[in-house]
Amino acid sequence: MRILITGGTGLIGRTLCAALSARGDELTVLSRRPQQVADLCGSGVHAIQHLDEWTPEMQFDAVINLAGEPIVDAYWTSKRKQVLRDSRIQLTQQLVKKIQQAKTKPRVLISASAIGYYGMVPDLSLDEHAPCGKDFSAQLCVDWERAASAAKEFGVRVVLLRTGLVLDETGGMLKKMLLPFRCALGSRLGDGKQWMSWIHWQDYLLAVLYLLDHPEANSAFNLTAPAPVTNAEFTQALAHVVGRPAVFVAPAFILKLAMGERSDLLLGGQKVVPHRLLQSGFHFEFPDLPSAFQEILKS
Ligand SMILES: NC(=O)c1ccc[n+]([C@@H]2O[C@H](COP(=O)([O-])OP(=O)(O)OC[C@H]3O[C@@H](n4cnc5c(N)ncnc54)[C@H](OP(=O)(O)O)[C@@H]3O)[C@@H](O)[C@H]2O)c1
Repeated sequence: MRILITGGTGLIGRTLCAALSARGDELTVLSRRPQQVADLCGSGVHAIQHLDEWTPEMQFDAVINLAGEPIVDAYWTSKRKQVLRDSRIQLTQQLVKKIQQAKTKPRVLISASAIGYYGMVPDLSLDEHAPCGKDFSAQLCVDWERAASAAKEFGVRVVLLRTGLVLDETGGMLKKMLLPFRCALGSRLGDGKQWMSWIHWQDYLLAVLYLLDHPEANSAFNLTAPAPVTNAEFTQALAHVVGRPAVFVAPAFILKLAMGERSDLLLGGQKVVPHRLLQSGFHFEFPDLPSAFQEILKS
């Protein structure tokens, strides 16, 4: 398959590029730093810097859209919120415009979203039919998904990846947590009752390949493991696997003071279940957190 990937240089994109290249797919990665694509995504991967380089004559069988500014890395000022929105929604709109102009349309657009779509919901189990939330990250996901779904008008199958916390030792939130946990400084966040819906990076990758290869799959899928846990359970499971105690508590008011509105991502949460993936017969290699941590942190 000829596949165009945005965000291919990121944490998820790099492993996806490796997996797709290994099975013989021909990849083009859109990147603001095209000179780094060969190093990060593989030497056979073609790089483009601007979507204008996608001429109507070029043909892609699939487009995978992962690009977006990191959501937790900086304080959510109104300027930062605009950057977070533009890097996702505007880019997705431009991508769909290119799909519209292509002489031969891709068969499928797989576009990232996040479980933040559902807003902060204390205890209900949320499948793909649950309503969207109203807070900033929920509205970001709603508008991001709407921009991608516009490609349906051109006969393209659209799959939306409502992604939970991707567990990968090499990046993302788990990497940030590992040093304090290994130094016995791991801590529960607030009262620890908030839900964390996570997924092992290998299951994430397998799910994307599965959705790419199953022409009947369309619309939103929760990419989370079947067994979400509370923050207290997550903290204890991680402490157990690194063999160090985690007896501290990061008080909610300190996190709110330090992080502002972004602290919702740590103190709120949602109990998300991958109903549509399970219903479609997808098999999770790491359905529970202890098995996921054991595999990721085995060395
Ligand atoms: N990792 C998770 O746990 C998680 C959870 C939920 C949702 N997601 C979503 O899944 C997607 C991929 O996640 P990830 O963890 O792989 O992200 P990542 O490591 O931060 O990579 C995102 C990529 O997006 C591109 N990008 C960043 N800012 C951009 C901008 N202003 N304009 C255009 N491109 C920009 C970058 O590519 P270049 O520098 O090459 O341009 C970067 O490599 C993201 O959209 C993220 O929001 C991730």
